[in-house]
Amino acid sequence: MLKPNLKEAQKRTRAEVLVKTSEYIVKENLKELGKGKTYFVKTYGCQMNEHDTENIKAILEDMSFTEASVMEEADLILLNTCAIRENAHNKVFGMIGRMKHMKEERPDIMVGICGCMAQEEVVVDEILKKHAWIDIVFGTHNIYNLPNILKEAIDKHSIEVEVPSIEGEIIENIPVKRDSKYKAWVNIMYGCDKFCTYCIVPYTRGKQRSRHPEFIIQEVENLVADGYQEVTLLGQNVNAYGKDLNLNYNMANLLEDVAKTGIARVRFVTSHPWDFTDHMIEIIAKYPNIMPYIHLPLQSGSSRILKLMGRRYTKESYLELFHKLKEALPYSSITTDIIVGFPGETEEDFKETLDVVRTCEYDSAFTFIFSPREGTPASRMKDDTPIEEKERRLQELNQLVNEYAKKANDAYLNRVVPVLIEGISEKDEHKLMGYTDTMKLVNVKGSKDNIGKIVDVKITDVKTWSMDGEIMEK
Ligand code: 5AD
Ligand code: SF4
Repeated sequence: MLKPNLKEAQKRTRAEVLVKTSEYIVKENLKELGKGKTYFVKTYGCQMNEHDTENIKAILEDMSFTEASVMEEADLILLNTCAIRENAHNKVFGMIGRMKHMKEERPDIMVGICGCMAQEEVVVDEILKKHAWIDIVFGTHNIYNLPNILKEAIDKHSIEVEVPSIEGEIIENIPVKRDSKYKAWVNIMYGCDKFCTYCIVPYTRGKQRSRHPEFIIQEVENLVADGYQEVTLLGQNVNAYGKDLNLNYNMANLLEDVAKTGIARVRFVTSHPWDFTDHMIEIIAKYPNIMPYIHLPLQSGSSRILKLMGRRYTKESYLELFHKLKEALPYSSITTDIIVGFPGETEEDFKETLDVVRTCEYDSAFTFIFSPREGTPASRMKDDTPIEEKERRLQELNQLVNEYAKKANDAYLNRVVPVLIEGISEKDEHKLMGYTDTMKLVNVKGSKDNIGKIVDVKITDVKTWSMDGEIMEK
């Protein structure tokens, strides 16, 4: 058993981490472990987790498991969890309750917990105390070891917990079963060194480790050869890419090299305003296949709160960067993340956030009420704003955000824009769906032959969160 340890996870910034790149291998004797059995992975949280699930699925298929279409029929169920806010956490514990009933009815099934919650010491302690019927718990640093962890649990007939707190390796060549045939996630780095005071990610995902550029470029080249149209470069803080590599190679260099592979669309998430360089802006403007879409988390519009959050920028420097981006990329869409109700946030501070939203007129924003996370500095700060007040602020903010989202979309009416058609629309089976270069969701009238292609679409109607359009015949 290897339990996560919060003290160790907190300590790790001071320790040098030797990153070693190794290759993924499944031992011959484990390749048939899942023969005749099915799996189901339920994913919570961010794109990083979604992509981890794509790896987990491929590893399970390497062991001869096949994917079940519904959870209720699977022999192995994994919950790939998210720890970012308390409600994600509660949802998972709710699901664990459901799993318990399923396991009582079908004792032969196996249940596993992985992802960010598995990296939390308090969560693993609770699992061991109250839910020791769970079969496996593994972390975000050792997904590649899933075959051995499963084997251990089967052999021992008891819970197997393998959650290292300190990362040290980047494992290349982990197989991947991609959800889409047209767009792909590509990890460029793991972990985060920013330690924003509210955020649990530096503890659950560990120290920043960038992948070597040659592995990333190779992966994108392979995707191009396989007919992929779009890659999204993934990391908690992609703009800091390369800082840990000592190669004199940074995010601007990487963006340029990825653009040069000829892939039709390059996206990247998530940017931290602190590391956004002029060189990056220049490269984004120079290459038409780097999409004019930037997610630029604000978190708060008050410099005082930003300081308490440890964000390392002020309202003024954020706005300066914002205007620089809009000047260099006038057509771009910019979205953001905002937290309300951070400890000590006053009405004045909140008004400053609204003020920035009015200035930036974001294309859209993800908004959250501050959620205290165990082990983070902000969870120990005095917080005397009543929850009803925080909810009111969230509502007021959302109203403003929606207004600007609709305004940004209104500008698209009757315009012709490029859309990567991804498949059938969820809203209407007679329509197709896809995203514009600026990341707007469009439901489109047109022939299914266009699936997988980037086509010109005329926008015929706009709503707050989506648009309608029709494919222009050539
Ligand atoms: N409480 C509320 N929101 C949070 N986020 C991260 N940590 C917390 C927290 N403790 C939000 C931030 C981040 C997004 C992914 O989630 O806005 O950008
Ligand atoms: Fe969390 Fe801040 Fe790192 Fe983003 S940049 S993952 S908010 S610590």
